[in-house]
Amino acid sequence: MTAPKFTPRIFSGIQPSGGLTLGNYLGALKRFVEKQDEGIETIYCLVDLHAITVWQDPVRLREQTREAAAAFMAAGIDPARSILFNQSQVSAHAELGWIFNCVARMGWMSRMTQWKDKAGRNAEAASLGLFAYPSLMAADILVYHATMVPVGEDQKQHLELCRDIAIKFNHDYGVDFFPVIEPVIEGPATRVMSLRDGTRKMSKSDPSDQSRINLTDDADTIAQKIRKARTDPEPLPDSLEGLAGRPEARNLVNIYAALAGSTPEAVVAEFAGRGFGTFKPALADLAVSRLAPISREMKRLMADPAGIDRILGDGAARAEAIARPILERTLDIVGMIRSR
Ligand code: TYM
Repeated sequence: MTAPKFTPRIFSGIQPSGGLTLGNYLGALKRFVEKQDEGIETIYCLVDLHAITVWQDPVRLREQTREAAAAFMAAGIDPARSILFNQSQVSAHAELGWIFNCVARMGWMSRMTQWKDKAGRNAEAASLGLFAYPSLMAADILVYHATMVPVGEDQKQHLELCRDIAIKFNHDYGVDFFPVIEPVIEGPATRVMSLRDGTRKMSKSDPSDQSRINLTDDADTIAQKIRKARTDPEPLPDSLEGLAGRPEARNLVNIYAALAGSTPEAVVAEFAGRGFGTFKPALADLAVSRLAPISREMKRLMADPAGIDRILGDGAARAEAIARPILERTLDIVGMIRSR
């Protein structure tokens, strides 16, 4: 449990390493917006330092960071109520990340499934940053003494590592300084799957564009991708148990529930006995009605890149004001002379 001495604070981040997908939206962004209204401070970060653990074209990286910022705002993040910024503008992340590199153990890092997936067989050629990735992620969170971290299912292991780092730091230095965070993984769409293969995660790095819905897709593209999504020939069952062993059908039901703000149980009850010839057009209509206004607003915001940069700069200054004193106390605990 989180020690009561820590004020509840929410932190989460998204990599600007490509356009955002429906998975990012339902698993993260949409929930970030909901958290904004719960009376708890919310800090949201575009983790550009994480993005370069795999090479990024510098021009594209800047564009993608602005596009992701636009997606946050278009989805409902209000930069006056939440802190919205890009990671590299607050150097305390990288500084605490280094300290955590000295706390985390090689064995912990090498067990991370995302490291194994991304480095693949050719780990020798992967960047050192990719290996250390989860340690910087722990620093992102703990440099704010954040206590709650809303994410999709795929980040669970990284958040467990964040807890391990906080516990080991506190233990090694005999302090109760870093909170042991709570992962917040909730709702019907914590793991949105590929539209082509219900056993694989929907991802911005999948080579097939048909596998995902991008937040920048127009209405026709969204409808066409849902129409072509892989399914099975059976109609929808009347209970969730009937979806066992039908990953594609289950995925579309989950997506429908998340978009409608409902539950998979209610969706199955509504469409029981109907085939995908009925369900897919209903899902396409719902997806377009929810996503089209977001992509329209993103376009509008993107027309003013300087305006986006100003918002990120302002967010970074507010983030820095929280992070810097926590970093300085950490440096004191670790035994660094600070005499300037
Ligand atoms: P990233 O950029 O891969 O994804 C951002 C968020 O979107 C969620 N997500 C999904 N949710 C449901 N279904 C999917 N198919 C799907 N794909 C992505 C992710 O779970 C995540 O919540 N390491 C993080 C970024 C990060 C971070 C942090 C997050 C860096 N520092 C500190 C939280 C706290 C990442 O790569 O997310």
